Amino acid sequence: MAVTPKIAPSMLSSDFANLASEAHRMLNFGADWLHMDIMIAIASKLNGFFKLHFNKNSLRHFVPNLTIGAPVIESLRKHTKAYLDCHLMVTNPLDYVEPLAKAGASGFTFHVETSKNDWKELIQRIKSHGMRPGVSLKPGTPIEEVFPLVEAENPVEMVLVMTVEPGFGGQKFMPEMMDKVRILRKKYPSLDIEVDGGLGPSTIEVAASAGANCIVAGSSVFGAPEPAQVISLLRNSVEKAQQTLIQ
Ligand code: DX5
Ligand code: ZN
Repeated sequence: MAVTPKIAPSMLSSDFANLASEAHRMLNFGADWLHMDIMIAIASKLNGFFKLHFNKNSLRHFVPNLTIGAPVIESLRKHTKAYLDCHLMVTNPLDYVEPLAKAGASGFTFHVETSKNDWKELIQRIKSHGMRPGVSLKPGTPIEEVFPLVEAENPVEMVLVMTVEPGFGGQKFMPEMMDKVRILRKKYPSLDIEVDGGLGPSTIEVAASAGANCIVAGSSVFGAPEPAQVISLLRNSVEKAQQTLIQ
C-alpha cells in the first residue's frame, strides 16, 4: 500500500506574533500538518543581556536556539484542530511527553541521539498519552541506529531524516542524506518517512524519488509569493514519485 503525502509547513518560519492566523493561512493553502519545532537552550543573564549558551562538544543543549514549548502548542490548539507535528530538539524528551500531550500535540518526534537508553519507555509513554511517536536523526547519525525503533514490538510510526543540522530554518539541503531515505524506503515500504531542512521546489524531486512522503518546508513556503503553489508542487512531486516507487 502506498504511503500518502503529508506536506508540513514549518511554523519556525512563520510570524510567531500571529501564529494562529499563520496556521490558518497554511491550512487554507493546502497544508496537511503543521510542523512545530520545539528547541531548548539555556539562557543566562550576562551583563544585563540574555546570552544563549552553546557548547559544541556537549549534548547538554541539543541545538543552539530557543523556540516554542507546550504553552504555545496549547494556545495554538485552541485555534485549530490540525495535526501538530512536534519535533523535539531537546536532550530530555521524556520530560515533555505529558505537557505536550496535555497541550494538544498530535505527533511527538524525538531524536535517537538523546534517547539511546530509554526509547522503549518513551515510545510507550507517547502512545499511552494518545500521540503518534516518531524518531529523528541528525545528519551525522548512521541510519542503522533507527532500525531497532522501527522493528520494535511497540514501534515508532515515522522516521524523520534531518537534511540540515537541526537548529535553524533557511539552511542548505544535504542531498547526501538521501541514501538514508532510500535505505529506509526499501526496508519499510509503508513507513512514514519525513525529511526536514532545505526542502522546496529545487530539492523536492530528489527527496520524493528517494522515497520521502512527509515533507517539512519552512522558508520555501513562507518566503514564497504564492505559498499555495509551493505546497501543491511538493504534493505533486511526492504523488508522482510514489507512483513510480510502487510500480
Ligand atoms: C531545523 C528545523 C526545521 C526548519 C526547516 O532544525 O527542524 O523544521 O524549520 O526550515 P527550512 O525548510 O527553512 O530549512
Ligand atoms: Zn523540524
